[in-house]
Amino acid sequence: MADVTSDRPLHLVVFGATGFTGGFVVEEVARRAADSPGGSPLKWAVAGRCRRRLEDVLNRAADRLSMPQLRTDVEIIVADVSVEESLAAMCRRGLVVLNCVGPYRFYGEPVVKACIANGAHYLDICGEPQFLERMQLEYHAEAAAKGVYVIGSCGFDSIPADLGIVYTQRQFKGTLTAVESFLTISSGPEGMCGHDATWQSAVYGFADGRSLRRLRKKFGHRPLPTVGAKVIKRGSLFYSKEVQQYVIPFMGSDPSVVRRTQRFLHEEQQQSPVQYSAYVGVGGLLSVAKLLCGGLLFWVLVKFSLGRKLLTTFPSFFSFGLFSKSGPSMKQIENTSFSMTFFGEGYAEGSDPSQGRPDAKICTQVVGAEPGYVATVSALVQAGVTVLGELHSLPGRGGVYSPGAAFNKTSLINRLHKHSISFSVRNQSRPPPDALPAWGDA
Ligand SMILES: NC(=O)c1ccc[n+]([C@@H]2O[C@H](COP(=O)([O-])OP(=O)(O)OC[C@H]3O[C@@H](n4cnc5c(N)ncnc54)[C@H](OP(=O)(O)O)[C@@H]3O)[C@@H](O)[C@H]2O)c1
Repeated sequence: MADVTSDRPLHLVVFGATGFTGGFVVEEVARRAADSPGGSPLKWAVAGRCRRRLEDVLNRAADRLSMPQLRTDVEIIVADVSVEESLAAMCRRGLVVLNCVGPYRFYGEPVVKACIANGAHYLDICGEPQFLERMQLEYHAEAAAKGVYVIGSCGFDSIPADLGIVYTQRQFKGTLTAVESFLTISSGPEGMCGHDATWQSAVYGFADGRSLRRLRKKFGHRPLPTVGAKVIKRGSLFYSKEVQQYVIPFMGSDPSVVRRTQRFLHEEQQQSPVQYSAYVGVGGLLSVAKLLCGGLLFWVLVKFSLGRKLLTTFPSFFSFGLFSKSGPSMKQIENTSFSMTFFGEGYAEGSDPSQGRPDAKICTQVVGAEPGYVATVSALVQAGVTVLGELHSLPGRGGVYSPGAAFNKTSLINRLHKHSISFSVRNQSRPPPDALPAWGDA
């Protein structure tokens, strides 16, 4: 692990420790710090805008984990997004800042700026493509010049999808050309729930779809080449034999993040890019009916400021209980898990992707505990530990990267495997071209 010094005395700073997610991050960092090998204990701090509430967070973690030392051994840093000097002072104390202050479109940029200016690597759990892509457009060169890594979307958005594709590419024996992923989430009798800040991020993100299109034009990217047969997109709602339920295209940040990674791997490491489509299971016909009503209402309301006010004031009502101001209960968290299954196709070793149809298939899976507050937290903390321990394996000398681009050559997948998110190959085949199996039968 990187050495801390007297002028930079901390490995990790958890910023936004008083938040719903931040509290879980604090507990996970405390567990990992307790595991750290004898010679190099992890030194860390909690940061936020109210000292008393930060003390409460440490007291709660100390009680829950039976670690009384957290009350005395963990530094407290008071920092507010709107006070530049407080962010600078925070960033100068740590090697890596884990930023849990969101929605990122409102609070993220000053933290990215302060990290770059003050030489701390920056990681977050943002799932907002506008913010993630804008940070890359506006700060990549500066971050690279300063030797700072800015790696967004290190939570459930979008580590399982992004590293899931990287893993599938690695496991495929040949040239992988296309992947479809299907996300399913299972929960116990209490159902599942997300906290209000994620709902707010979604409301403001959907309302601002146009700015994302404008932003993408500014990159001036050429389209990624289509290798192999072009994949035909499926409809906006269909029954999937693969996951045996109705599915819709996944509207989160995964496609945006995966596209950025695939572009990086193609342009910087000459890898063949995959065509990617992401879907999410919605369940049976009753859930489809609810989704259509809720989706239509959301789509209308999100366009107007009064509509957005209603959506953000009554998250539970408008999301049919999927998001709430109080967030999920511990029981809901304990009984929820996710599975993301990747169906890939391509050309086996020795076959030419410019000739004929794909002749080989692979099915991989990423499974994990509750996505929002267990898998996300584990992914963020493991990403932070990877930056501390494997900086030499990250690309270039700094810059703004997606997780798949940043961690492609590190051991993050293996680390995640040991901490709540596992990656596996379910099936790989190279059948005779005229007898390709349907994946639903696999
Ligand atoms: N990728 C994923 O899958 C995933 C999963 C979970 C969450 N998230 C994202 O993580 C973010 C946080 O979610 P959450 O549910 O934890 O939200 P939350 O409970 O509302 O926490 C927000 C945090 O930001 C802090 N904050 C707000 N304004 C601040 C300011 N001016 N200066 C310093 N700190 C400030 C709050 O501090 P106070 O306590 O002082 O108000 C609190 O600590 C959201 O963007 C959410 O979408 C992503």
